Amino acid sequence: MENQIWMQPEDAARTLRAGGIVAIPTETVYGLAGDAFNELALAKIFNAKKRPTFDPLILHIASLADVEKVAREFPLKARMLAEKFWPGPLTLVLPKRESVPDLATSSLPSVAVRFPVHPLAQEIIRLAETPLAAPSANLFKHLSPTTAQHVAEQLAGRIDGIVDGGMCSVGVESTIVSFAQEEPRLLRPGAITLEMLQECIGEVIVAKSSSSPGSSMESPGMLDTHYQPRTPLLYKSTLNGNLPVKTARLAFGKQLGVLPPTLNLSESGNLIEATANLYAYMHQLDEGDYDLILVDEIPSEGLGRALNDRLRRASSKKFF
Ligand code: TXA
Ligand code: MG
Repeated sequence: MENQIWMQPEDAARTLRAGGIVAIPTETVYGLAGDAFNELALAKIFNAKKRPTFDPLILHIASLADVEKVAREFPLKARMLAEKFWPGPLTLVLPKRESVPDLATSSLPSVAVRFPVHPLAQEIIRLAETPLAAPSANLFKHLSPTTAQHVAEQLAGRIDGIVDGGMCSVGVESTIVSFAQEEPRLLRPGAITLEMLQECIGEVIVAKSSSSPGSSMESPGMLDTHYQPRTPLLYKSTLNGNLPVKTARLAFGKQLGVLPPTLNLSESGNLIEATANLYAYMHQLDEGDYDLILVDEIPSEGLGRALNDRLRRASSKKFF
């Protein structure tokens, strides 16, 4: 049974054309793909992930020209970003075409589009001959998968197949920039940093996370409780009381800590390396028999912004 889940790109594309759902590698994290124009496939994605349908999906394309299959408009600044950073870890939220099913966008008038750089992702999209809706291939609110093994652990038996493309090179979900309003807004930080965006198109507003008091939900997936391991994790939060005996320390660089490092995201303090390791190490520590995961502070600049965003969401609010 186990090995029947592994697929080659050709089988994956055939399955996708027939309305099935297949986990595919991308440079950011693995995605759970389905034909963006097939409502049954979209429903299967939500069901397999146990994801509420108010959380819209990202549609993946394999050429710049395919934007017009899903978006009604392509504003100048969005086009400038696409020309600079596509294919790559950037998602653009654009006015949607009417033909895109409401289930893909949770009935929003906008659609999220990404052109991934991973060669297997591109091959599968081309062979499937349709844009592919693909959220991260994890159960709702769980850690995103950066290896095919992570996907199998969470979704085997719930999906039609997995294409193994090894470990994801970026390691966190794509940067999301929205053009749904007048000014471009950064909805989710990622490997295309705020500084890189601003250098390309000038001012970009940083949207507040959805659970911030008084702000409405701009990106329904930006819940504060996203990306949580099962083991309580503390990041930048004060510890009231003693550390449990079985505490793991996820270190960064050469910082001194109350415990020796259990794993180090990057001994040299390199943010690219740390990002690529983040979810894999969180998965690994979550699998270990720990009562608490303590994470070292990471500088909140450049790519560190994405790491801080994911760690803040992964951090327990009430452990002690
Ligand atoms: O790197 C990635 O983006 C990965 C890979 C597989 O491409 N995908 C991914 O998908 O992270 P997912 O579903 O885990 O996250 C999609 C995010 C959600 O936070 C969702 O709310 C937001 O995109 N989103 C989708 N459509 C949107 C829209 N029309 N307006 C605002 N936010 C949107
Ligand atoms: Mg996700």
